[in-house]
Amino acid sequence: MSLTEKANRIRARKSEAPISALTAYDYATARLLDETGVDLLLVGDSLGMVVLGFPDTTHVTLDHMIHHTAAVARGTKNALIVGDLPIHSYPNPETAVMNAHRLIGAGAEAVKLEGGVRQAKKVAAIVADGIPVVGHLGMLPQRVKEEGGYTKKGKTDNETQSILEGAFALQEAGVFAIVLESILPKAARLLTEKLDVPTIGIGCGENNCDGEIAVITDVIGSFPWFLPPFATQRGDVAIEITKAVKAYLNDLRR
Ligand code: KIV
Repeated sequence: MSLTEKANRIRARKSEAPISALTAYDYATARLLDETGVDLLLVGDSLGMVVLGFPDTTHVTLDHMIHHTAAVARGTKNALIVGDLPIHSYPNPETAVMNAHRLIGAGAEAVKLEGGVRQAKKVAAIVADGIPVVGHLGMLPQRVKEEGGYTKKGKTDNETQSILEGAFALQEAGVFAIVLESILPKAARLLTEKLDVPTIGIGCGENNCDGEIAVITDVIGSFPWFLPPFATQRGDVAIEITKAVKAYLNDLRR
């Protein structure tokens, strides 16, 4: 199946069964997640925080992304693998296309980038070169320093209107889905209703998007030092690790 055909299957899920998506950063986790039947695995640049120990995603490089995308690809048979283009890797259409190909070369089947109107030409160029693209609107973590923190979006009619303009520009440019991050429920629902491409929400409330994405370390509780207020933890891997290692050390020292 071609990259475009695989991405189009996700696109066709608009208003159908909710699209399930999780982040993954390594072989073992990707393999476990893929075997659950999740639709989409995002090698997110959130790996900068939850895997590499940086304070935010602005420290992530294309080399980091390539390294982790290749590991995820080795563990994935069915889910669509989306690789994040990190900050500074898509300053213009030519560089965006070149770096999107590098992620595809590492095993990604689509790429994601952040921003609306100002990214439309880059998206169109990547799509024209045969690579499916996911958009990302609302809170843009690559702009956290300019924003001065992680803030909710869609609080005013003007802000919602400008996100909507960005969404239409991305749709026109050829994205097959758009991640909506930290957009107030009413605005997220409006975007979902107005767009032909599916929206995949994180921090947008329940059932306001065509799908949901979650950061895997939030879901399984393997990064106990920070849990975003909107995230639901469903396991406690950190406790299990501590328990298992203490048992190992006790046996060793006895
Ligand atoms: O990098 C990431 O994990 C993301 C999700 C928050 C959508 O972009």
